[in-house]
Amino acid sequence: MKILVTGGCGFIGSNFIRYFLKSYPNDILINVDKLTYAGNLENLSDLSHSPRYHFIRGDIADVSQMEDLISKGVDAIINFAAESHVDRSIQDPNAFIRTNVFGTFVLLEAVRKVFPTQKIRFIHISTDEVYGSLGETGIFTEKMPLAPNSPYSASKASADMLVRAYHHTYGLPASVTRCSNNFGPYQFPEKLIPLLISNAIEDKELPIYGDGLHVRDWIYVEDHCRALDTVLHHGREGEVYNIGGSSELPNLYVAKAILDKLGKPHSLIRFVTDRPGHDRRYAIDFSKIEGELGWKPSVPFEEGISRTVEWYKTHRDWWKKIKTGEYLDYYKRMYGDR
Ligand code: NAD
Ligand code: TYD
Repeated sequence: MKILVTGGCGFIGSNFIRYFLKSYPNDILINVDKLTYAGNLENLSDLSHSPRYHFIRGDIADVSQMEDLISKGVDAIINFAAESHVDRSIQDPNAFIRTNVFGTFVLLEAVRKVFPTQKIRFIHISTDEVYGSLGETGIFTEKMPLAPNSPYSASKASADMLVRAYHHTYGLPASVTRCSNNFGPYQFPEKLIPLLISNAIEDKELPIYGDGLHVRDWIYVEDHCRALDTVLHHGREGEVYNIGGSSELPNLYVAKAILDKLGKPHSLIRFVTDRPGHDRRYAIDFSKIEGELGWKPSVPFEEGISRTVEWYKTHRDWWKKIKTGEYLDYYKRMYGDR
């Protein structure tokens, strides 16, 4: 099998590529990534000499580049490429619409142009955030109407709708996955868990938005990769699959767990101004993928967070470089000099 991964130099994409090449020793993988601030070639430097791995610097919103690449023939596309940070989408939604909506459209069009001569399986990586926010009770199922609240989630929901329409109208063999909050190695330190771990290691304050009681369902990235493998090989075309970690936790709990693992005081927690439109709670019903395809998460939060804390402790150079480089300006704008 020859698969095209988009956005493979980011957090989930790089974890997926390593997982996939290890799991399928005869398959070939092409990674097309624009290398935005979030794309890091170092995430895959161990694979640079593999004859089964090919990197192309490219933009999914570039029509001729994507048409050229896709017309050369691939069996499947896994579309990770996206602008992925809610706070950035609130500050400037432009790139979110361009990459997440227009970029997905460009890929779908390129796939449609070679269809049905080539039947390219299209797996679109989406998020539980497209469902909006839950109150104290309730759970996201695939049947729920989409109600995105941030420019990020609105752009992801728009792309999901395009994928749905291209399956329904043209018969493209496409599926959508909607996963909850991932954590693990190689996550860019603007997202909650790597930000808190790296700050705590350096005895810096841990910024917690609002009252810290916003709930996210956390999944270890390796479990997400395994779910995507399952959907790629066994999922039904035209279907949406929710993917969750069975770990609904308030942000404050996550912050304290990280401090405890590192032996640092809870006094490092600093409550800061809440995010505008901050979704209160996410919870995901993944009984469809579990019942149909036999997937369920296997790494409990406690184990995943221990592994993750250990990874950030032993990969200080990786995140230090990011925090002192381009990211620093953004970080300063958001949090001052902390
Ligand atoms: P990330 O920000 O770490 O990585 C995104 C990657 O996409 C980067 O390598 C970047 O260079 C690349 N990219 C951006 N624009 C591009 C373009 N126009 N063309 C080609 N490449 C481009 O993101 P992530 O956390 O790895 O998320 C990957 C996907 O998973 C996204 O689609 C995201 O919406 C989805 N998702 C993420 C989470 C999460 O918790 N991180 C949860 C559910 C779904
Ligand atoms: P984040 O990692 O940005 O993921 P998402 O917004 O896509 O769920 O944030 C996870 C949760 O942590 C969310 O409720 C916002 C909160 N948060 C903080 O409290 N402080 C922070 O510095 C960040 C980045 C997030």
